[in-house]
Amino acid sequence: MKIKIKISRCDPLGRTGCKPFLQAYDIEAREGMTVLDALHLVKDEQDGTLAFRRSCRSAICGSCAVNLNGFPKLACKTQLIPEYKKKGAIIIEPLFNYRVIKDLVVDFNPFWDKINKIEPWLNQKNNPPLPQGDRFQICPQKEGMEGLSSEKKWQRVDKQAVLKIGNSSKCIMCGCCNAACNTLEIDKHFVAPAALAKAWRFVGDERELQRQKRLVRLSGGHGMWDCVRCVHCTEYCPKDVAPLQAIERLRAEAIKEGIIDNDGARHVESMVDSIKRVGRLDEAAMTFKTLGFLRSLGMIPFGLKMEMHGKMPMPLIFPQIEKIEEVKKIYEEIEKRKAVSRNREP
Ligand code: SF4
Ligand code: SF4
Ligand code: FES
Repeated sequence: MKIKIKISRCDPLGRTGCKPFLQAYDIEAREGMTVLDALHLVKDEQDGTLAFRRSCRSAICGSCAVNLNGFPKLACKTQLIPEYKKKGAIIIEPLFNYRVIKDLVVDFNPFWDKINKIEPWLNQKNNPPLPQGDRFQICPQKEGMEGLSSEKKWQRVDKQAVLKIGNSSKCIMCGCCNAACNTLEIDKHFVAPAALAKAWRFVGDERELQRQKRLVRLSGGHGMWDCVRCVHCTEYCPKDVAPLQAIERLRAEAIKEGIIDNDGARHVESMVDSIKRVGRLDEAAMTFKTLGFLRSLGMIPFGLKMEMHGKMPMPLIFPQIEKIEEVKKIYEEIEKRKAVSRNREP
């Protein structure tokens, strides 16, 4: 079938500089053809100057990510005809939130800077050499390893421990999540979902010796608490890494470790406290608890705007929901269960 595809073009060395425009190409689409195949077809048969990245053609290397009909996707993993039938168009643009170098090629340096910033390696001390033939290096272990020597125990990680960080290990560094990230769009210094998912890979690893240090750093400015939980990173990740889940785990871990002297952790605590006290979010009280008195004063104009749009019911007029006792019972039940699981811990 004949399909018209539109590709964003821009050549910084051209006469007009890099002012992106959409160029249309008619191609003969075959069943089973991917968007990457279509790009190759255009380059091979119609316009050799078209620039795009690709390597593996098998959804492994992460290099062919583009914005397809407005959303980040791997060109080699997306079938052309179904996408065309679903959306009625094929518009291929470079990934959002990245600087364009030429056509569909974007500058990945900021992406790698963020990954490097979280120190993507395991910190282990006195790491014993692996015995010949052993492929896995694991932590001091527990169940099912009673018969092993202490050296062997040090080198095994049990299945549950691996599963905990398994998703984050699947990342192919395609950058789709960062392209879809709302926080990154307004703050280019935000550490962003790909690096946060990678951070969980190490924080969640039982062998890691610098968890606390990592969590303190991630709790700082432009760190994990700046994520607004829009879920885009998880929705558009082609490898089911689920970066938002990693972010939530990092946050929970930081609170568990007592790293709570920051706006993000205070906001969570004030939220929990507000529900417990009045059964709903008391935005005004939460702002004071999160930011403190002086910084909250600067939020007054914003608070008034929220009030005018019905986003912040007056706390003094609606102090508690009707069935607050039921909410309190839920909290009591949670506390009971927590106590039981604490007593069970070895
Ligand atoms: S959930 Fe957070 S990290 Fe993920 S895309 Fe949204 S703002 Fe970015
Ligand atoms: S987390 Fe997913 S979307 Fe983000 S870089 Fe890794 S594989 Fe790509
Ligand atoms: S070409 Fe490698 S992921 Fe698409």
